[in-house]
Amino acid sequence: MQNNFFLKIKFYYPILFAVIINSAFADQDSIKAGEQKAMLCTACHGVEKSVNPEWPNLSQQSKKYLVDQLHAFRDGKRKNALMSSQAMGLSDEDIEDLAAYYNSIPADKGSLQADDDIIALGQNIYRGGIYERDVPACISCHGPKGLGIDRTGYPKISGQHSVYTHNRLKNYKEGYDIKDSVGKNYAIMSSISFRLSNLEMKALSEYLQGLY
Ligand code: HEC
Ligand code: HEC
Repeated sequence: MQNNFFLKIKFYYPILFAVIINSAFADQDSIKAGEQKAMLCTACHGVEKSVNPEWPNLSQQSKKYLVDQLHAFRDGKRKNALMSSQAMGLSDEDIEDLAAYYNSIPADKGSLQADDDIIALGQNIYRGGIYERDVPACISCHGPKGLGIDRTGYPKISGQHSVYTHNRLKNYKEGYDIKDSVGKNYAIMSSISFRLSNLEMKALSEYLQGLY
């Protein structure tokens, strides 16, 4: 029985290998195509880092999250004066390539800028949540280094501009009433932000900017 199993594995091994190599090349092609298509995006998002703290860094961002957001902008489910028009003309293939490209860029390390007590407040909530208000620990979904979980579309949130993160958390909070019409992942984050005060959101944003 066991022998049989290993024989089978041996037989399929070359095929498996070919499939892996093939998909690795396909990924490389998509990244290359994405790099070309990202020329216009770079003006605002840079490569590793964007120049304006209101514009998010996209480097090393979870691929699924990037795909989801570009679809959301294109379909009008996420709106922004600067960004919405950028996504309007993108095909599904463009979105895949752009996401593969930004996902492949190693991110810069972020740096802390706020006072120690603000950072400490952010770190406490990040690691332990707020029990009395049913705020879960951010670490449980975004991970100890804030890298997220690509498979489920949970984004990387470490090393991000604190100004952008703070705005984004406020947007999730404001979207509480319409959260279910936007999508499952949006609803998760909207319900969490709804229970945070402005000071707590600010503290989390400052802590996250320096996490890596
Ligand atoms: C004129 C400036 C500008 C250009 C050009 C631009 N963006 Fe954006 N982008 C923004 C801003 C501003 C936001 C933040 C929107 C918000 O706060 O909701 C954003 C957000 C995003 C997000 C969401 C990131 C996150 O962490 O949620 C993605 C993905 C994105 N842009 C991809 C792109 C791609 C791909 C291109 C090129 C096709 C592009 N952008 C071009 C300004 C720009
Ligand atoms: C149960 C899982 C879960 C927990 C816990 C969680 N998040 Fe999230 N977070 C998500 C998901 C899913 C998204 C993507 C939502 C979307 O698609 O709009 C997200 C998105 C975000 C974003 C947007 C990133 C960007 O680039 O725009 C920020 C910031 C964020 N979370 C911060 C936090 C903070 C701070 C906490 C703790 C208070 C937290 N999250 C707890 C699942 C979680």
